[in-house]
Amino acid sequence: MGLLDGKLIVLGVSGGIAAYRACELARLLGKDGARVQVVMTEAGAELVGPLSFQALTGRPVEVGRGGVTAAAGMAHIDLGRDADLILVAPATANTLAKIAAGMADNLLTSTILASTCPILLAPAMNTRMWQNRLTQANVSLLAQVERMVMVGPAEGELACGEQGPGRMEEPTVLWQAARACLSPKDLAGRRVVVTAGPTRERLDPVRFLSNRSSGKMGYALAAAAARRGADVKLISGPTALDFPWAVRTELVESAAQMARAVGRDAAKCDLLLMAAAVADYTPRKPAKQKIKKGDGGLGVDWKRTQDILAALGRKKNPALRVGFAAETGHPVEAAGKKLRAKKLAMVVANDVSLPDAGFGVDTNRVHLVTKDGSEELPLLSKDEVADLILSRVAKMLPARRARR
Ligand code: PMT
Repeated sequence: MGLLDGKLIVLGVSGGIAAYRACELARLLGKDGARVQVVMTEAGAELVGPLSFQALTGRPVEVGRGGVTAAAGMAHIDLGRDADLILVAPATANTLAKIAAGMADNLLTSTILASTCPILLAPAMNTRMWQNRLTQANVSLLAQVERMVMVGPAEGELACGEQGPGRMEEPTVLWQAARACLSPKDLAGRRVVVTAGPTRERLDPVRFLSNRSSGKMGYALAAAAARRGADVKLISGPTALDFPWAVRTELVESAAQMARAVGRDAAKCDLLLMAAAVADYTPRKPAKQKIKKGDGGLGVDWKRTQDILAALGRKKNPALRVGFAAETGHPVEAAGKKLRAKKLAMVVANDVSLPDAGFGVDTNRVHLVTKDGSEELPLLSKDEVADLILSRVAKMLPARRARR
């Protein structure tokens, strides 16, 4: 199951060289569960064969004025009515101009005119074409239509060899934007802080104590909160992951750095989600020079780190706080104790001894423990777990204006 399960997405491909990158986009949307109906302009179909898209989506592709999927000739009405989202990638200067003018001279533009769903436009063209006052006037006009959102263009090297704005956004970015378009906006106006990943506690300039957290659970939460309309700050220990889209990310290393960063941001936030695996101990005196090996063992004097969640709970008017519990047996019991001891709204308990849960993997099995009891979720992707946590937590947020 994916987050786009069952959604009908019309992927419009107009005639820019970036059309070949729309193949990857079609694949990502389909892998996420969407039914993808590709509609190409004549020029788009000259650049990439419709058969490539047919193979990737498992559906016949419409080209030009269309007619393959609705023999009776009403495809634009059917698609305009049924689509959950229309994503035009690449959107050339010509297609943007036609949409802005309300033209309907091919299946893509007539579907857009006959639709009421959100529309994502991913412009791609030469820099001078993009900066042309006529294109910019069309872009301004399109920006006034509430359900139309422009994603990009990005800056960089263009197919013509020139540098500047005009590159189509990365397929992964467009995929995230599509997910965001189809998400509920129950966290709009809220400030959310998420922590993710491990911390590293230095023993000497070349060695540290850390753990197996990959950051995936926390990054999934940050991305999900952003999709649901929140202003999200992610505070991350060292990971190998790409920063989530539309999220401000700050990198930290040690538990002390994470505590400082969270302390700074938590005062201004409505919701704190602590998915990071923060070290409980740190060397009292890390060595300034590399520790040389000797004949005997190595003793290290450890001290406790600050418990970030517990410390925040002692503050006046703390934000709603969600902790995680990484357990290796009886996760619900242990989570209940943490809930009470740290005065949390929810503890997400995962049994990290299971092969498909906890550290490193893309899935998780969790119990959501609150003062009212515990809810066991089945095996799900971390994206799905993140969304379910946020669905529950959004209802617990006080119905007041977000803090300033
Ligand atoms: O990153 P992944 O590979 O996706 O793995 C996800 C995960 C297993 C790391 C995640 O699901 C998880 O369980 N995170 C919390 C791990 C942990 O440190 O659990 P804990 O039981 O030791 O801590 C309980 C809670 O207190 C946690 O929310 C933790 O962030 C917080 N804590 C811990 C220590 C500390 N000094 N300050 C804290 O606030």
